[in-house]
Amino acid sequence: MMTANTEVGLIELTDEVKEDIIRWRRYLHQNPELSFQEEKTAQFVYETLKSFGNLELSRPTKTSVMARLIGNEPGKVLAIRADMDALPIEEENSFEFVSKNPGVMHACGHDGHTSILLGTAKILSQFKSKIKGEIRFFFQHGEELFPGGGSEMVAAGVMEGVDFVIGAHLWSPLEVGKVGIKYGAMMASPDTFYITVKGKGGHAALPHQTVDSIAVAAQVVTNLQHIVSRCTDPLEPLVVTVAKFVGGTTHNVIPGTVEIMGTVRSFDKKLRESVPGLMERIIKGITDAHGASYDFKYDFGYHPVINHEEVTRVLEETVLDVFGKETLELIPANMGGEDFSAFQQAAPGAFFYVGAGNAEKGITYPHHHARFTIDEDALEIGVKMFVNAALKFVK
Ligand code: NI
Repeated sequence: MMTANTEVGLIELTDEVKEDIIRWRRYLHQNPELSFQEEKTAQFVYETLKSFGNLELSRPTKTSVMARLIGNEPGKVLAIRADMDALPIEEENSFEFVSKNPGVMHACGHDGHTSILLGTAKILSQFKSKIKGEIRFFFQHGEELFPGGGSEMVAAGVMEGVDFVIGAHLWSPLEVGKVGIKYGAMMASPDTFYITVKGKGGHAALPHQTVDSIAVAAQVVTNLQHIVSRCTDPLEPLVVTVAKFVGGTTHNVIPGTVEIMGTVRSFDKKLRESVPGLMERIIKGITDAHGASYDFKYDFGYHPVINHEEVTRVLEETVLDVFGKETLELIPANMGGEDFSAFQQAAPGAFFYVGAGNAEKGITYPHHHARFTIDEDALEIGVKMFVNAALKFVK
């Protein structure tokens, strides 16, 4: 079912498309928009797609775009997804096409994702007569901000009839020229928690007349570490991080409350669902023991990215067919989150990384850094991956 498309053969990029994808990426980089506010970006994507012909365009939500390339014969339906949103970061790069929007920056590479998928759509739109089935292109809004645009697009019906879904992330920790493939669990579910430890404020010299929320909250933080170290299977990945701890105003006042916030990352559904209960048992026990009380709120975030074996195999074969084995990097999972997982809830799917770092060119800053950028050679690799993988799915 999924062997190389012998009728079409391997697709290389024309010089025109190579120039397009760099121009589009630079335009998008210069004009970043925050999550759920991607109005101009979506308009740009819509107009650009319209110029290709052969595509049926729609706007599933206010700032997302879908293009459908429907083949002449029935067959499988493949969806390819790119995200389009930027981050609230003041850019510190100095190249010509730095952000024109103060405090907003494409610091995760989504400008590149959008450009790669536009290039893919431009090429594939010329193969309408060779396609059996359909290819859908999802230009998704709001990846960086929970509850995420992915689930909104799914709720709008974009996945109806879809057999497979694929997506990619430009990845600066991976050198340009590499494509990262992972079978099974690839990225974690990012959950968020909020704790308020409620004591009784008073004079710092008279602690016996107070319930010291700082001392109690410090013990809550320490004891939360026992979840990973003592309560859960050491072979099952889990992160419990307290990332924010706020209490007090000055040296001689014991504050009445302390605010704690953090993240929980996991892959396994049962483990994930057990964490809020384990946390609350500790929070309740510690606060009770010291005469304090608490508020606890736990928000489940995106689903984990768990790659489907058969779909992943097609991606791996595509890397080998198009680039050869030097390009293939079988990567480990990481505890980051991605709302590509929303689409994987609706059909078998797989996500992969396109190496975008380049130490020689000084492209080494991490994602979400004010000096983040990509090696633009990665754009071409991304397009070749999508185009050639797509033709395997819908030959
Ligand atoms: Ni990202």
